[in-house]
Amino acid sequence: MKLHDRCQKVTGMIRVIRDAGIYPYFRPISRSWGTEVECAGKRLVMIGSNDYLGLSHDARVKEASAQAIYRMGTGPGGSRFLSGNMVLHQTLEERLAAFVGKKRAVLHVTGFSTNLGALGCLLTPSDYVLCDRENHASIFAGLGGTKRMGTFAHNDAPSAARKIASEMGKPDFDGQVLLITEGIFSMSGDVAVMDELAELKKQYPDMLLYLDDAHGLGVLGANGRGTAEHFGVTEQTDFIMGTFSKAFASIGGFVASDHTDVLDYIQHQSRTQIFSAALPAACTTAALTCIDILEAEPERVERLRANTRRMRQGYKDIGLRFSESIAPIIPITIGSDEKAFMFAQELFERGIFALPAIYPAVPRGQALIRTACMSTHEDRQMDFVLEVMDEMARKYRIRIQDQDGDQPEGEGAQASSTIPGARSSQSLL
Ligand SMILES: Cc1ncc(COP(=O)(O)O)c(C=O)c1O
Repeated sequence: MKLHDRCQKVTGMIRVIRDAGIYPYFRPISRSWGTEVECAGKRLVMIGSNDYLGLSHDARVKEASAQAIYRMGTGPGGSRFLSGNMVLHQTLEERLAAFVGKKRAVLHVTGFSTNLGALGCLLTPSDYVLCDRENHASIFAGLGGTKRMGTFAHNDAPSAARKIASEMGKPDFDGQVLLITEGIFSMSGDVAVMDELAELKKQYPDMLLYLDDAHGLGVLGANGRGTAEHFGVTEQTDFIMGTFSKAFASIGGFVASDHTDVLDYIQHQSRTQIFSAALPAACTTAALTCIDILEAEPERVERLRANTRRMRQGYKDIGLRFSESIAPIIPITIGSDEKAFMFAQELFERGIFALPAIYPAVPRGQALIRTACMSTHEDRQMDFVLEVMDEMARKYRIRIQDQDGDQPEGEGAQASSTIPGARSSQSLL
């Protein structure tokens, strides 16, 4: 298919949604107060942000970042390998490693580039990599040319065990198994069964476990140390990957491990590390300050948990459909893509910022509105969201009690998407 024809398939769909006045993406925000934003001249309550602890607007994080700019400048001036390495980077690596309970950490400029660079270093053609089928797009991207790759049913350790046994039973298998999962799944808010996955190491001691804890860091575990800490399996988790673009109020990513030689290798071989500029001082300092705050103020994480419980209970009382979890990500099932677009548009008009996820990011007919709690959400903001949701849930007939007349559409609507990684924002349209 020619390039223009290929583009047409997507741009044509975008045009239809725009013409209908319900296109929700790339909304330009002109001002942010964290839990509220200004967009198209309206002030809205933000319930779609990954800034779970609200630290992007913490005065100490902002001041420290500003001071870092005055001391080090706005840009890094090069890759860390060459002229851009800073004492700040090394300090942050040490603090991160200690924070997640590992010996060493290596920074990258984003979470996406961490997965891309690190995974590219970890695998040889004889290894077998096994992914939860709902893993994030950056994980699948990092596995690019991998020959031996499989997926297991979402959050299903017995399914993973069967795949490992089958692959290891092949006469030509002489590599290592790398199992990759997210800590909190970015779309569904499901928490990985890390205890069960770590247990597989008893049966397969050579298996390496890689945890993408983008959404678990700052959220789960003591002082927000993450999903491995939450389950008490930090030691069994070989690689803990994290990003600063969620609870750490910045951008940047890292991979931490006790395999210090492997991290040395990643530092010198990761293409996204060597051939990309270093993390600027302001971003590095923001993440460092977040660690200071997390260590000193566990109540922030507690407050996030309390707000999450409150919103989950509120949504439940309304009769909304969402999966059980302890995560601050609460995706509300709406139904068809069109309905989700209309729902998001009306939320916007009524003063709430939250975005829809449609097929193939979710199974057909199960489009959702992804909501997320923040520890800085105030009672009045949560009450407002619940009040609007209650009215709209009745109007759009999305409550469990409305279900009879409004089943999810499409054949096999309850089945999982058949595209590995598609449910993890591989593509939104
Ligand atoms: C699970 C997961 N991994 C990795 C990433 C990439 O992180 P970043 O935004 O820092 O590039 C994301 C971001 O959405 C994510 O949700």
